[in-house]
Amino acid sequence: MKPKVFVTRRIPSPGPEILEEYCEVDVFLGEQPPKKEEIRIGVRGKDALLCLLTDKIDRDIMDAALSLRVISSFSVGYDHIDVAEATRRGIYVTYTPGVLTEATADFAWTLLMTVARRIVEADRVVRTRNWKVGWGPTILLGDDVYRKTLGIVGLGRIGTAVAQRAKGFNMRTIYFDVIRAPLEKEKEFGVEYVPLEKLLKESDFISVHVPLMKETYHLFSEAQFRQMKRTAFLINTSRGAVVDEKALAKALQERLIAGAALDVFEKEPIDPDNPLLNMDNVVLAPHIASATKEARSKMSEVSAKNLIAVLKGEMPLFLVNKDVLNIRSLPQVKMI
Ligand code: GLV
Repeated sequence: MKPKVFVTRRIPSPGPEILEEYCEVDVFLGEQPPKKEEIRIGVRGKDALLCLLTDKIDRDIMDAALSLRVISSFSVGYDHIDVAEATRRGIYVTYTPGVLTEATADFAWTLLMTVARRIVEADRVVRTRNWKVGWGPTILLGDDVYRKTLGIVGLGRIGTAVAQRAKGFNMRTIYFDVIRAPLEKEKEFGVEYVPLEKLLKESDFISVHVPLMKETYHLFSEAQFRQMKRTAFLINTSRGAVVDEKALAKALQERLIAGAALDVFEKEPIDPDNPLLNMDNVVLAPHIASATKEARSKMSEVSAKNLIAVLKGEMPLFLVNKDVLNIRSLPQVKMI
């Protein structure tokens, strides 16, 4: 009998084809993410779950899926999964780092350039037929990017890829991370380690690349905005809750900082009365940093391969909870 898999949304090729070769696949067909009860119903009696970052996979979901062996997330972030609980139950948790690094770094740069050069406002002026003066010496002045100081918070895969791109702009790139990178890496990417306070004070652009966890929740709040330059911009492509959104809106209103470009929010989609929606010095995107055809296709492939590997009793490409190997060994989860 083939293993049974629940997939919480339609995903692009080639993931579905890879899964179907080995498993009986049940896909949630709604356009919106499944509600908690729908996930509970979906996982019942399943051996594996392929989920997205919009699906909260907690103890209740695991209680509904007592035969679950693997939770494979179609994402690099895994803050939506209770990993400790999964580990305790001997459930393998896998994710898709690496394959979306470049797309996400490109997008952080897209946001940076867009907010610095006021592209959204400029586009609006043209489209709304408000382009009245052909060329004007002071129309829509933005900020230079070239030779400015870029502050990277979190020098993981994506932060490093963002730093690499900054070389082409001749920037001074400083970074903060809980663990300092080896000197060779600092040299290769032309980055300088500084404490967070110094990074806040000296950066013209701050790009955030940390995972969401207890320690990074509201890492950016009023105190941090107060330390930033009034001319600085904040770019967030990590997770919304790393930034205290209310404090950010207030900082933008009070011009404590010059602007922000955000791909992620504390609540997604954002509420229609979110004050950020009415601010010109803010660029907003609907969580699309990894949304290239290439990256999403790779995420699909890797998430499917991770899942199948566990069911074959093989080491998946990207395992989140290495401790699970001591709780339930790979030969014990093997079904294929
Ligand atoms: C995107 O935010 C991801 O975690 O893959």
